[in-house]
Amino acid sequence: MIDFDIPVERRNTSSIKWDRYKGRNVIPMWLADMDFRSPRPVIKALLERVEHGIFGYTSAPEVLYETVIDMLRREYDWKVHPEWLVWLPGLVTGLNLACHAFTAKGDGVMSAFPVYNPFLEAPRLAERRLVKVELKYENSRYELDYDGIEAACDDGVKMFELCNPHNPVGRAFSLTELERLAEICLKHNMVISSDEIHCGLILDEDKRHIPIASIDPEIAERTITMMAPSKTYNIPGLGCAFAVVPNREMRTELLRTMKGLVPFVNTLGFTAALAAFRDCGEWHAKLITYLRRNRDELEAFVASRPGISMPHVEATYLGWVDVRELGLEQAVTYFEDFGVGFSDGAGFGMPGFIRINFACPHSQLKSALEMFDAGLANLNH
Ligand SMILES: Cc1ncc(COP(=O)(O)O)c(C=O)c1O
Repeated sequence: MIDFDIPVERRNTSSIKWDRYKGRNVIPMWLADMDFRSPRPVIKALLERVEHGIFGYTSAPEVLYETVIDMLRREYDWKVHPEWLVWLPGLVTGLNLACHAFTAKGDGVMSAFPVYNPFLEAPRLAERRLVKVELKYENSRYELDYDGIEAACDDGVKMFELCNPHNPVGRAFSLTELERLAEICLKHNMVISSDEIHCGLILDEDKRHIPIASIDPEIAERTITMMAPSKTYNIPGLGCAFAVVPNREMRTELLRTMKGLVPFVNTLGFTAALAAFRDCGEWHAKLITYLRRNRDELEAFVASRPGISMPHVEATYLGWVDVRELGLEQAVTYFEDFGVGFSDGAGFGMPGFIRINFACPHSQLKSALEMFDAGLANLNH
């Protein structure tokens, strides 16, 4: 039985999302994990693996390679060879590794913002030069600013970090958009570090996820694509992700950079990933339907309140709300006092915005919106 309406108590489970408000009456709508139980086949596979009772060093099972390769071919018409896959304990690890492996100290790494904070942090942590280009807000949606990207390219910029589907602005970039970006990266000889962790969360029926590496072999040759079952099947705490690196030299460099520093993916991560990709189609379809309804409700709420606005969420379970007109110094703290906790846009490089995670039972979303509304009403008095 699948019932996304049933709330699951997450307090006292060391959940980072819920522990932020330990002892306070605040509904956490910030960090990007879902308040739904993982699919039954994932839980069952984990139980069976745990029951075996030996948790030694584990490599990725052959059937997981086959399952991932089959999924990439089926979903994206992308033919990937097993040797192109590199297993990683997480995407943030991958973003940081990509900076170290494919660029040198002082090189420029470009990113379009607002964006998930590790995109902005990774270049700095690796002592690379962060080159930020703002996304363009046009026709009520965010788009890549191709002219801005071109203008910011110089000989020292060696890599573009792409987030697709995009956290936090909820875009699933189209083929035309990806082709334009790819063309610029080719022209300026930039590696593409593509974080596609939200690829299984396309909410619009008329949209699809397109891995940028799948559009052309020449693009694939300069791209590291990173994916994981963690967002879609709600298993981020199990740390299993993978990179697709078709170019042999890039792969060698990536593996060399990882050596001795990046641990193997853990046994339970592999087990959960296999069950997620292989056995959870029905659950996934129902999840998307459920998320669509929550999204529609959030969008209708925001559209009907003065002073706030948000773009349509094509993909992900994250709403990006412009609260600048409210004139709040600290919007997140302000709404926490009314009982709801959002992510601060400042962390994504854009103060004056908040991000709302709507992957929760409908009753929880409803309560969160009531708290949000109380905070908004208080401003109008
Ligand atoms: C775009 C993006 N990349 C990476 C991550 C985190 O990935 P991981 O937990 O695999 O490091 C997130 C989590 O919110 C994300 O939104």
